[in-house]
Amino acid sequence: MLEVEICRMKMKNPTVLAAGVLGSNASSLNWAARSGAGAVVTKSFGKEPNKGYPNPTTVEVEGGIINAIGLSNPGVETFQGELEKLEGRVPQIASIYGSTPQEFSEIAGKVENLVDALELNISCPHALEGCGASIGQDPDLTHSFVKAVKKTVKIPVIAKLTPNVTDIVEIAQAAERAGADALTLINSLGPGMRIDLETGHPILSNGFGGMSGPAIKPVALRCVYQVYQNVDIPLMGVGGVTNYRDVVEFIYAGASCVQIGTAVMYQGLEVFPEINQGLLKFMKEKNYQKVEEMVGLAHQGRVR
Ligand SMILES: Cc1cc2nc3c(=O)[nH]c(=O)nc-3n(C[C@H](O)[C@H](O)[C@H](O)COP(=O)(O)O)c2cc1C
Repeated sequence: MLEVEICRMKMKNPTVLAAGVLGSNASSLNWAARSGAGAVVTKSFGKEPNKGYPNPTTVEVEGGIINAIGLSNPGVETFQGELEKLEGRVPQIASIYGSTPQEFSEIAGKVENLVDALELNISCPHALEGCGASIGQDPDLTHSFVKAVKKTVKIPVIAKLTPNVTDIVEIAQAAERAGADALTLINSLGPGMRIDLETGHPILSNGFGGMSGPAIKPVALRCVYQVYQNVDIPLMGVGGVTNYRDVVEFIYAGASCVQIGTAVMYQGLEVFPEINQGLLKFMKEKNYQKVEEMVGLAHQGRVR
């Protein structure tokens, strides 16, 4: 009943571990899969090892957290070793980033045989110069980066978009025209900041960071809703999901499945079975046979 299929990947349920949360190595990704996630996304990795920003890299805010980790990762060579150790219980998606289309393609080619799909992080709000959000804020850049990776690999390519744009539909359509097989909406919102009252300095070492958690859910939901009306490829919703009711909202808005990040930090991996039990009960009560039947129902005003 909870099974979904997206980009030729069969998932036993529509909940996915979001990029960056627990996905830095094989053991944590395998653990998430064993705990009940329907699919897992790795931490974003690039061509070379990257230390990221010094601590503090995360700070709590009302309704979530702000992070500016700066895409710290051990680089594709080391990550290849981790991907080889994945147990393959659930679909595995590698999140990659780079500063040029060629760099993205090179990394994509190196991991293509180790995962089921790629998620292109063209949307990190606190990335180093040249990577991240600047790509996903420009439709032409989005198009050229997605197209380059699509030319290189045969596995599905998912573009992860930033909400920090004037018109997310135009970016989504550029990614679709370039051949993206699906879209993930949204990366963290912002940038935002907090200031330490004692020192008067920004708390994060980078000053600013991306917001995640329940506070961003209304924005994420609006992005999914708007993009669903304007593209024909499937959507993965992400942003502030903590319970099954949030998942239903995203699915009604048009998401085929939902990723979960910050809630894993607060509720642990139990969040996956908890949400799936709640979703199953909801579907039985409302007499839905398949998740697919519920996708986009908010647009027709025809929910049960
Ligand atoms: C600590 C942390 C690290 C993250 N790292 C990445 C990352 O490496 N790549 C990426 O695409 N998104 C990253 N994200 C963004 C999440 O995947 C997700 O899009 C965002 O947090 C919104 O979902 P949430 O509210 O469920 O956390 C990170 C988020 C957090 C909180």
